[in-house]
Amino acid sequence: MSKKHHQVEEQEVALAAIVVVADDGAIGRNGDLLCHLPADLKHFKAITMGHSIIMGRRTFDSFPKGALPGRQNIVITRNEHFSAPDVTVAHSVDEAIKAAIMPGEVFIIGGAQIYAATFERVTTLYLTRLHATFPEADAFFPTIDPIEWDTISEEHHDSDDRNPYPYTFITLRRK
Ligand SMILES: NC(=O)c1ccc[n+]([C@@H]2O[C@H](COP(=O)([O-])OP(=O)(O)OC[C@H]3O[C@@H](n4cnc5c(N)ncnc54)[C@H](OP(=O)(O)O)[C@@H]3O)[C@@H](O)[C@H]2O)c1
Repeated sequence: MSKKHHQVEEQEVALAAIVVVADDGAIGRNGDLLCHLPADLKHFKAITMGHSIIMGRRTFDSFPKGALPGRQNIVITRNEHFSAPDVTVAHSVDEAIKAAIMPGEVFIIGGAQIYAATFERVTTLYLTRLHATFPEADAFFPTIDPIEWDTISEEHHDSDDRNPYPYTFITLRRK
């Protein structure tokens, strides 16, 4: 393949990240999410269904039932022997992006290492901003510089019986 052709192909991948991130940038602790937020699980499912989702091996390990149905699950690991049912294995970020075969946006779904490694290439951010702080967190999202992003949509929700903190669904597009 010529270099020119290769560059055109790379540009065609619309890379998005989707994350629940607290006001202090926290995204996880002890290998798990910060809290159970059922409204976000529904939101995450609606946005990612039918697409390729790319994740780090630790995030994959945190899923209780393995691969998420209805999506191409691409797991990045340095372990040459890793395999899991219904998973496409990749050994680098580039390999993961090239392995994505589902139409439309390709979603980076975490965790901290994979968000950091892909952030500069991501053009759309689907944030669920959790209005709380988590001093005990050990995993964080990269700093989002508001100057670099346009807000496409914003939808606020108060806490309720099932969702313990107020949260805002925010879509940002890189300028
Ligand atoms: N709030 C949210 O929306 C959200 C979303 C996802 C995850 N999380 C949280 O984030 C935390 C997990 O994040 P994490 O940073 O610890 O782990 P991670 O990013 O999920 O996975 C890290 C693993 O990915 C592999 N990896 C990373 N960079 C690589 C590279 N350049 N080449 C090949 N493989 C590479 C390695 O796997 P091997 O060790 O197998 O080589 C590494 O151990 C958890 O607390 C999770 O709940 C939060």
